[in-house]
Amino acid sequence: MTRVLVNEVAPRDGLQMEQRFVPTHEKIAFVDALSDCGFAKIEVTSFTSARAIPALADAEVVMREIRRVPGVVYTALVPNLRGMERAIESRVDELNLVMSCSESHNVANLRMGRAQSLAQLLQVVREAGHGGVLCNVSLSCAFGCPFEGEVPVDEVARIALALMAGGAAGITLCDTTGMADPLGVRRLLDRLHGTLAIDSTTVHLHDTRGMALANALAALESGASRFDASCAGLGGCPYAPGASGNVNTETLVHMFQCMGHATGIDLARLLRVAARVPALVARALPNALVAAGPRDALHPLPAS
Ligand code: COA
Ligand code: ZN
Repeated sequence: MTRVLVNEVAPRDGLQMEQRFVPTHEKIAFVDALSDCGFAKIEVTSFTSARAIPALADAEVVMREIRRVPGVVYTALVPNLRGMERAIESRVDELNLVMSCSESHNVANLRMGRAQSLAQLLQVVREAGHGGVLCNVSLSCAFGCPFEGEVPVDEVARIALALMAGGAAGITLCDTTGMADPLGVRRLLDRLHGTLAIDSTTVHLHDTRGMALANALAALESGASRFDASCAGLGGCPYAPGASGNVNTETLVHMFQCMGHATGIDLARLLRVAARVPALVARALPNALVAAGPRDALHPLPAS
């Protein structure tokens, strides 16, 4: 049995692209409901420019008003020094910095090259460290780039190593646009063995092409035990309009629990939260597990 840690990212990765601006009090209620489900971490919001991500322009209020459950790490995405200052002022427990493993995706998302991002993030890691705040770094496009295709595993290793050597507390390998396949997941994690502590490296999968659960299993079998996931599979891909979002948290937790792994998540409670997500974003979200219920939910025999 493996102890699997699950980080809930729907309030940030899920909501950042939604058409409907989710009112601030509804975001707070969503995070509060997730706080009672047993997650290791919750990514609450992002301290990005409001022009870049208008959906999360209320980061300060959300961070201030949520109920903090002891034991849950409340994190937020931070792209630069300005974001770091805002996040620390808002008493974020841990910062989640972001850069891409692909040059063109980094320019598209952050408006600068990777070398400049790396230098800035190392500065953020140092400055946050002075205040005793830890930084995780999410590496976008670690399994492929929508503009460049294959991303060499050696490039991912080079960037991850530089960040860890500079004081980052952890690395998240992101399949930002759902390009990973199980063999590619194994190849990257095998390459990173010896460079990173795989058991404390987070794997962040998107289900854009329906391979997220297969990829999660491949990651688990390659030694990963920390996963980002999004309640109700909220999220999307800016380069594949209409595509499904992040790996669905309840489906991932259900799979791990069926396999006998401990997640610490109260699945019944999480399913009730997931069932309310379509109303939050005012659109339908196909959800097989919410529709069918968990596999241990037995049904009465039909009357003969
Ligand atoms: N918080 C708030 N405002 C910020 C900010 C931050 N972290 N960083 C920059 N800004 C503001 C600047 O003050 C400036 O405002 P002004 O035009 O009123 O003076 C404006 O944003 C542009 O600043 P600049 O430094 O030129 O940044 P940019 O336009 O090159 O944008 C980023 C760079 C990284 C800030 C922006 O692209 C961004 O926030 N991207 C978010 C990416 C993201 O979250 N993607 C999804 C998740 S991976
Ligand atoms: Zn993502």
